[in-house]
Amino acid sequence: MKRILITGAAGQLGTELASTLQARYGPAAILATDIRDPAEWATRSQAARLDCLDLDALRDTVAGFRADAVLHLAAVLSATAEANPLAAWKLNMNGLVNVLQVAAEAGCRVFVPSSIAAFGPGTPRDPAPQSTVQRPTTMYGVTKVAGELLCDYYHDRLGVDARGLRFPGLISYATPPGGGTTDYAVEIFRAALCEGHYTCFLRADTRMDMMYMPDAIRAVVELMEAPPDGLTYRNAFNITAMQFTPAELAEAIRAHVPGFEIDYDPDPLRQSIADSWPARLDDSEAREQWGWRHHYELPDMVADMFRGLNAQTARAGAGSAGR
Ligand code: SER
Repeated sequence: MKRILITGAAGQLGTELASTLQARYGPAAILATDIRDPAEWATRSQAARLDCLDLDALRDTVAGFRADAVLHLAAVLSATAEANPLAAWKLNMNGLVNVLQVAAEAGCRVFVPSSIAAFGPGTPRDPAPQSTVQRPTTMYGVTKVAGELLCDYYHDRLGVDARGLRFPGLISYATPPGGGTTDYAVEIFRAALCEGHYTCFLRADTRMDMMYMPDAIRAVVELMEAPPDGLTYRNAFNITAMQFTPAELAEAIRAHVPGFEIDYDPDPLRQSIADSWPARLDDSEAREQWGWRHHYELPDMVADMFRGLNAQTARAGAGSAGR
């Protein structure tokens, strides 16, 4: 990868991936794009507004930037997708097929995130094997399974070097997530700091698979830089880091915010989505094929989240004091 275009760059994953890639490959090598106007989100010089549903605009932007890789992150997440399934299908599928088509024409490598949501209630729960039953019951999951297949198709028939990871829930502090079922594990930190209290939209015992953002970013870079010959499951590698319930996360947070309180008001939609997903992914193929290792466990992640959020608050305070 020498010149990388990112779609959905203003999102939770895109924001941090763009900064990491700028540091690694140089700012001139990265073009961060999003459907939102860069004036609203971009702090970096190379940013553009791009709607990946507009095939001509996508083609022109890839050609104009001379991109050799597209990291396609623009997508609707699980809970939002259930509120508007047709819009989710349109963005998640038509956006992806446009990216793959342009990549085939321009000779680009492609990264596409898949998800734990590509599994459903018929999948073994703990762990979900790399290769297993995939009958998701959410529109988000349906688009993720179809997306994995579409990427395989473009690789097998048209030679596109498309690669992907099945992410668990991603936890980070730089940019809030948008409309996922795992979002509670991010919201809870700000609530702990600001209110000392959080009302969780999932039951106390809902065990889910999660990962801290620095591990997720490193996984993208390592997969994209792995030699292609060793990759068997190139578009759908299971990866995992930690599994916990809301009650266990609250306990880990109490080590930093004594007296933190949590109560539970399960949202039927998001609870049913969470209940339909595996509690853990078996990532042994990723470990064997390209050397994947996670670094962050629950206590390290919680400590680093508070370090990051406190630094963010201090910067915001210094900014307003300086005005
Ligand atoms: N974090 C995503 C969601 O909850 C799962 O990939 O929708």
